[in-house]
Amino acid sequence: MAQHRLVLCTQDRIIAPVVQRVWATIRQEAAAVAAREPVLARLIDEQILRHDCFAESLIAVIARRLAVPAFDEWTLSDVIRDVLDVDLGIVAAAATDLQAIRDRDPACPDQLTPLLYFKGYQALQAHRIAHRLWLQNKIHLARHMQSRVSEVFGVDIHPAAQMGNGILIDHATGLVIGETAVVEDDVSILQGVTLGGTGKECGDRHPKIRRGVLLGAGATVLGNIEVGEGAKIGAGSIVLSSIEAYTTAVGVPARSVGPKLTQPASMTMEQGMPALSTGK
Ligand SMILES: CC(C)(COP(=O)(O)OP(=O)(O)OC[C@H]1O[C@@H](n2cnc3c(N)ncnc32)[C@H](O)[C@@H]1OP(=O)(O)O)[C@@H](O)C(=O)NCCC(=O)NCCS
Repeated sequence: MAQHRLVLCTQDRIIAPVVQRVWATIRQEAAAVAAREPVLARLIDEQILRHDCFAESLIAVIARRLAVPAFDEWTLSDVIRDVLDVDLGIVAAAATDLQAIRDRDPACPDQLTPLLYFKGYQALQAHRIAHRLWLQNKIHLARHMQSRVSEVFGVDIHPAAQMGNGILIDHATGLVIGETAVVEDDVSILQGVTLGGTGKECGDRHPKIRRGVLLGAGATVLGNIEVGEGAKIGAGSIVLSSIEAYTTAVGVPARSVGPKLTQPASMTMEQGMPALSTGK
């Protein structure tokens, strides 16, 4: 097993500069917190400092949250390690997500905090692993991960759902994403969002959320419709038909309001709520 770990860490160093950058920053931040708040030192050591690379740290964080007595932390760690060995893109995506949260969430003070504490981040990384297991036809392992993520984080993402990179899932409670949904890169999703079917369609029946979209808290998007690139969906809206790129849609059912946006809504995180720009 020691050798297994070493291979993963070596690859992790080779693959993506973003992984190396994020890992170096996290280690520095973790060492500072362990020195400043010594009661947390063991927790931080077990999840960050004792590991040789970002991939191993990620495995420790997720396995700790999702283990159960009959499928313990060590067994789950080995399952996740096997997945990352064949899909190192997950490690790069996990680093890119951390960077995205740091860039876009005004309540995120550093890169260590989401890794250790933000359940939207942890749920998304666990989903990436479940998705790979699903593609490997390890359906029950994938379902087990989905079910544990749902129990532990209150986030239910079908293992077949396709999620891009650089995704911010803020707060995360109550997020539901259906089987044939697609969420492209650089999307920001607030709590209580549903990407569901209408109940009237079969097969490919869930929304396609294009790059750079912002989905406000409690937004419900139903059916095989498209929310176009860079669009913004207001809190509590119910979206039943496709939304044009770079527009704002609000209400029940959602209607377009205001002028065309000039930048992707997920990046600016302009939510029409001044309090957010000064912290939550
Ligand atoms: C939609 C939103 C992004 C504002 O976008 P905006 O382009 O600045 O829109 P405006 O504030 O100018 O409002 C435009 C119109 O939409 C309406 N509107 C805005 N948000 C709405 C919403 N969530 N539901 C229904 N109507 C809404 C306004 O009343 C206004 O209506 P009017 O033209 O009839 O007067 C914002 O209201 C929102 O919902 N943000 C999500 C915030 C969130 O989820 N926060 C959770 C943080 S934890």
